[in-house]
Amino acid sequence: MTKVGIVGVTGYTGMELVRIILSHPELDLAYATSRTWAGKPLAQALPAVKERTELRISLFDPVGAAGAAEVVFLCLPHNEAMDAAAQLVGLGTRVVDLSADFRLKDADVYEKWYGSHSQPQLLTKAVYGLPEIYRDRIAEASLVAVPGCYPTSVILGLLPAAQGGLLNPDSIIADSKSGVSGAGKEPKADLHFPEVEGNFSAYNIAGVHRHTCEMDQELAGILGQPVSITFSPHLIPVSRGILSTIYSDPAIAVDADGLVDLYRERFSSEPFIKVRSIIDPLPSIKDVRGTNQCIIAPRVDSGNGRIVVVSCIDNLVKGASGQAIQCSNLMLGLPETLGLEDMPLLP
Ligand SMILES: NC(=O)c1ccc[n+]([C@@H]2O[C@H](COP(=O)([O-])OP(=O)(O)OC[C@H]3O[C@@H](n4cnc5c(N)ncnc54)[C@H](OP(=O)(O)O)[C@@H]3O)[C@@H](O)[C@H]2O)c1
Repeated sequence: MTKVGIVGVTGYTGMELVRIILSHPELDLAYATSRTWAGKPLAQALPAVKERTELRISLFDPVGAAGAAEVVFLCLPHNEAMDAAAQLVGLGTRVVDLSADFRLKDADVYEKWYGSHSQPQLLTKAVYGLPEIYRDRIAEASLVAVPGCYPTSVILGLLPAAQGGLLNPDSIIADSKSGVSGAGKEPKADLHFPEVEGNFSAYNIAGVHRHTCEMDQELAGILGQPVSITFSPHLIPVSRGILSTIYSDPAIAVDADGLVDLYRERFSSEPFIKVRSIIDPLPSIKDVRGTNQCIIAPRVDSGNGRIVVVSCIDNLVKGASGQAIQCSNLMLGLPETLGLEDMPLLP
């Protein structure tokens, strides 16, 4: 068993990590922090774990964390994770950071979208935690930056078409819908039940959502040229789930079956990616709820030849904590799917 820790255990991604780790056959939850619940049993903050662990919540202290755990998951807001990560890496502890603090390679880009970075020397050392692209580097990494939830759905949704040279980089549009847990546990007026229930709204459109630069960075890396994606996020009245519908003009003509074949071939050995053909039903968020799967339906518009892809994930699993465990499995030399084989919660 490998001892692991969670910094920020009482937030949504921290709680999701607890759920996965307590059922994981090779991980032992040995350390957990929160400022609000420090000194209290974890079971008091999360009653669901009452018979599963006697762990007490601590205040974060890097030496204590490094002494207790071989791998530490940081589930803190952006700007809050960077110093903790640097301290832990300096103490020889491997870190899986779920915040945005180490996802961007360029400190100036980070500063433009998130504010100043206190540990820019670690930006190039950190590995972007998308196993479907960076599996070998993740296995060797001391610091992994788990991708954002929206970028996970969009980058995976475009990956085979991008690598196959099928995308016109000036024409990519991602229209994404997310459940409310994507915004974290901190109360906000526009996320209260009466605002969200029965509602459906766009927000941060037209180049102002922070995940845009992350998608641009990763797609530019694949395409070998600058990308400026149009990203339109929406809030839907469910707890979890992201459905992205992504559009691109084709760089070369492509037919519907050929596109599905390309996706099937690219993802044939990927344990968590499922490709839906043109005779399969389109994916919906209930197909992935509680799972680490990304279900992708690539299509070609019969009217104009445009590429249209639907990509679905659970934002708290493949979009955050499940992907973090997938990365830590790789880092620890464990089977990549260990602890992550749950079926969706249906209906
Ligand atoms: N929610 C998602 O779907 C999702 C998906 C991908 C990535 N992420 C990223 O993962 C990170 C955690 O997200 P989350 O949704 O779990 O957040 P959250 O629900 O707001 O939880 C944040 C956690 O961090 C602790 N914390 C410590 N220092 C803090 C500070 N200075 N300010 C606020 N909280 C602090 C909080 O507990 P105390 O206040 O008691 O210390 C809490 O346990 C974020 O960077 C987020 O962007 C989230």
